Amino acid sequence: MSDHYAVFGNPIGHSKSPRIHALFAAQTRQDMSYEAILADKDGFAAAVAAFRARHHAGARGANVTVPFKEEACRLATTRTPRAEAAGAVNTLSFDGGEILGDNTDGAGLVRDLKHNLGCDPAGRRILLLGAGGAARGVILPLLLEGPADLLIANRTEETAARLALEFARLPACAVGIKPDGCGFAGLAGRSFDLVINATSAGLAGAVLPLPTSVFAPRCVAYEMLYGRETAFMTQAREAGARVADGLGMLVEQAAEAFFVWRGVRPHTAPVLAALRNPS
Ligand code: ATR
Repeated sequence: MSDHYAVFGNPIGHSKSPRIHALFAAQTRQDMSYEAILADKDGFAAAVAAFRARHHAGARGANVTVPFKEEACRLATTRTPRAEAAGAVNTLSFDGGEILGDNTDGAGLVRDLKHNLGCDPAGRRILLLGAGGAARGVILPLLLEGPADLLIANRTEETAARLALEFARLPACAVGIKPDGCGFAGLAGRSFDLVINATSAGLAGAVLPLPTSVFAPRCVAYEMLYGRETAFMTQAREAGARVADGLGMLVEQAAEAFFVWRGVRPHTAPVLAALRNPS
């Protein structure tokens, strides 16, 4: 009997996760299926329950995407520390009556930075743009890499300040430095080695009011969105930064989830190449 997995979201039609996990499963010879399931906006828990009832003990886990990550966090009976810190779950593992909730988004970002882009966050001055769910999900994994600095800047300044304070309360011995928060006006005259855009501004074609100075020489600018050239990417490129989109993070968070479920770490490079160059 093969093991069954699914990704739940709304919308879900354009999800690349089934393709990514099918490629991982073929590469590592894992006997498993992976499907995309559209859940009603108010029907996430019911959709998960129906999936588990359909496959009985063969239902082994699920990925969760927009808008259900916070609800998945509440559905889990146990959560990993990185899921607790994110307040959101993108990976569920089913084990009898237990549902383990994990969050592999931050690990995916860090792995993409370090292994695919040659940009180790250690010792870097990091600027994180945005203070919503996407930003929150990556703060702890970034702090654990030992950056020189982490500043969270957001359109709504008080949300950034609140988020920074929340993570600054973590034991300093565990995370090294304490993040700070500010509004975009607070960026004047400041420079960073790594600028990560975790806002959703790119979805609306909006330009962030960033001073050119934020992109230090040899800066890496990381856009968490993928599949489009956002204003942030253009802005960063014009300021001389090396620019990356979020497709690598997508593949790496999937690989981390695959590892959580299967105990096997797939090679991501061929999968990323296949997604970038659909033949
Ligand atoms: P996500 O889960 O993608 O993080 P979210 O929790 O709704 O979505 O957060 C969206 C983030 O993008 C927020 O930081 C938001 O800033 P505000 O807190 O001020 O709302 C940011 N954002 C969205 N549109 C933006 C825009 N046009 N300019 C700047 N920031 C924007």
